[in-house]
Amino acid sequence: MGFFSREDVMKVALAYSGGLDTTVMIKWISQRYNAEVITVTVDVGQDEDFEEIEQKAYKSGAVKHYSVDAKQKFAEEYVAKAIKANALYEKSYPLSSALSRPLIAEETAKVALKEGCDAVAHGCTGKGNDQLRFDATFASVAPDLKIIAPVREWNMSRDEEIEYALEHRLPINPVKSRFSVDENLWGRSIEAAELEDPWTEPPAEAFKLVKPIEQTPDKPEELVIGFADGIPTTLNGERMGLVELIRKLNVVGGLHGYGLVDHVEDRVVGLKSREVYELPAALILINAHSDLEKMYLGRRFQSFKQIVDTTWAELVYGGLWADPLRKALDEFIDYSQKGINGEVRLRLFKGSMRLVGRRAEKPLYHHKYITYARESVFDQKAGEGFSKLWSLETRLSSLREKG
Ligand code: ARG
Repeated sequence: MGFFSREDVMKVALAYSGGLDTTVMIKWISQRYNAEVITVTVDVGQDEDFEEIEQKAYKSGAVKHYSVDAKQKFAEEYVAKAIKANALYEKSYPLSSALSRPLIAEETAKVALKEGCDAVAHGCTGKGNDQLRFDATFASVAPDLKIIAPVREWNMSRDEEIEYALEHRLPINPVKSRFSVDENLWGRSIEAAELEDPWTEPPAEAFKLVKPIEQTPDKPEELVIGFADGIPTTLNGERMGLVELIRKLNVVGGLHGYGLVDHVEDRVVGLKSREVYELPAALILINAHSDLEKMYLGRRFQSFKQIVDTTWAELVYGGLWADPLRKALDEFIDYSQKGINGEVRLRLFKGSMRLVGRRAEKPLYHHKYITYARESVFDQKAGEGFSKLWSLETRLSSLREKG
């Protein structure tokens, strides 16, 4: 102490995961900025021991710790919107990490405001997308606070961080996996080590939710998912909150070896990266939802909604959750989902998921029109005139070509 007067002491709220980076950060921020660090851990459904994380924070020098249970909020205000938007970035990634960041940042910023902090801090690197998500939300919830991102400043390698932790007797776990993992209710992302070579197949130990095919049951399993206004509400006829439903689907999907995404992704900063994810529930629900949607929405509505859905996913990927465009698109999407009530039947088996049936309450799908049977009410004669006019332009063009 000594050198600084009481007023010089800064107060910082740090979004704390309990991992190596943010643990080292508690100590590093308090030294570098002469600060008191308040840690905030947000539960968005990651499989962690939150009491252990709290102990770790205090042992690393935090002056106060908050543990915020935001699972329900995450499911109902973030994931539910993603399902309605069939949200996939680059047609592949269900945005599991991207969706959680604005919520984690918001909860951290709220603590900062409540505690009268001077700054908020996060553990993101300078080359990823997560920094954009934290910075944007920090700035929109607490625009007057300074943002500290030690990884962008400190220039330590992983080994140097471990050295720093040992030197300062920080409670780090020396036998941590070599992968960088981010986990929540909606999915688990796995990066680094040999996965950086896009040709290398991820080893079995990278995965936690999805079983290797050799260990999956030899009997297929059928599931029925019910939707109300576009939101999943039942599993096999049983009503269920979204958190529980997602948890169950992660287990059953993973049991059958379903739920992996392995693709090359374009980060916002302009880098390509190989990304590996486990997200059985997200893939099941997005596939089932977009299937049911086809029973309701007309073709023009569908093709326009695909544009909206793509833009929605790009905004969220880029951390612009707080942007008015995202909110406006959500109003459109909510309108589109009114009355989407029905069920989708699917079958899981040996790493695959097949949609095998769907039924809807008041669909645009009308059996009495489409049926090939005698009782069809479709007027076949009307087809003749329609068909002529449909190709009129094309026929005129052909005539012109023939001179
Ligand atoms: N590429 C994904 C995204 O940008 C996952 C990021 C995961 N973050 C992590 N720290 N491992 O959303």
